[in-house]
Amino acid sequence: MARKKIALIGAGNIGGSMAHLCLLKGLGDVVLFDVIEGLPQGKALDLSHAGPVEGFDGNVIGTNRYDDIAAADVCIVTAGIARKPGMSRDDLLGTNAKIMSSVAEGIKKHAPDSFVIVVTNPLDAMVTLTQRLTGFPKNRVVGQSGILDSSRYRSFIARELNVSVNSVAAMVLGGHGDDMVPIRSTCLVGGVPVEKLIPAKRLDEIEARVRNAGGEVVALLKTGSAYFSPASAAIRMAEAYLFDKKEILPCAAMLEGEYGVNGYYFCVPVIIGAGGVEKIIDINLSANDKKAFDESLNHVKDTVQAMNRVLGVS
Ligand code: LAC
Repeated sequence: MARKKIALIGAGNIGGSMAHLCLLKGLGDVVLFDVIEGLPQGKALDLSHAGPVEGFDGNVIGTNRYDDIAAADVCIVTAGIARKPGMSRDDLLGTNAKIMSSVAEGIKKHAPDSFVIVVTNPLDAMVTLTQRLTGFPKNRVVGQSGILDSSRYRSFIARELNVSVNSVAAMVLGGHGDDMVPIRSTCLVGGVPVEKLIPAKRLDEIEARVRNAGGEVVALLKTGSAYFSPASAAIRMAEAYLFDKKEILPCAAMLEGEYGVNGYYFCVPVIIGAGGVEKIIDINLSANDKKAFDESLNHVKDTVQAMNRVLGVS
């Protein structure tokens, strides 16, 4: 059986980290694409030199031509600009919407059967645009947001209690913005509800930090946004697809009636397997969570409308 082909559109910090992860995990051959000449080629050459040390056989090439992503099994898109201190994810809208338009065209033409994972911000709008412009069925276009946001929640809780991250489950749903919705009732530590272990007031503080964690990283880095953790999150989704894991993961998926939402990408628990987004899991949210979820949705609706204005679409 031939190796799988993973196309990474965008060879910045997340793209490079994802390429490294794909090769270390033996997921397949990697094509690193970017419009900047030399950047993907340089990273690919560097990565190929890690092969003999790490013992991986996957090939990696860097390219500026969409032809090279031909017949990719998975495309992961990080193309676009990242936040600088003081910027919100929405401030990236104008620039990234234009970039995503050409990315979608390239994927549609050269990798028409691929599973597409979008990471570019503002996430919920960019994944909507990608699905619209590729015309791919909704099960084959998905956004990475909730795995990262949930992972931040899990990491802070694990540190708070000094327990393994493997003992902490939690889900953060909604839009990938500062109004994302950590669902406290899903946070279990060794199967025990977190509310039994940490006082409510402290949980409020931790959840506020989760919502702002991307911004906290941006403020520290000063030159861009988080990349190791977004890379891990997106590769987790690719693995679920490539190995037909049928894993339940919080991801931005197109909702058509689920959660009372129609026609928007929004982060909810989904099952990812060989069929892409095979199922959306519609859980009954508490009244408080539903209120926060709806507020976050209004924000996503505004962003999608702003995007449509930028692109001259009504
Ligand atoms: C973050 C960016 C990548 O949350 O959206 O760090």
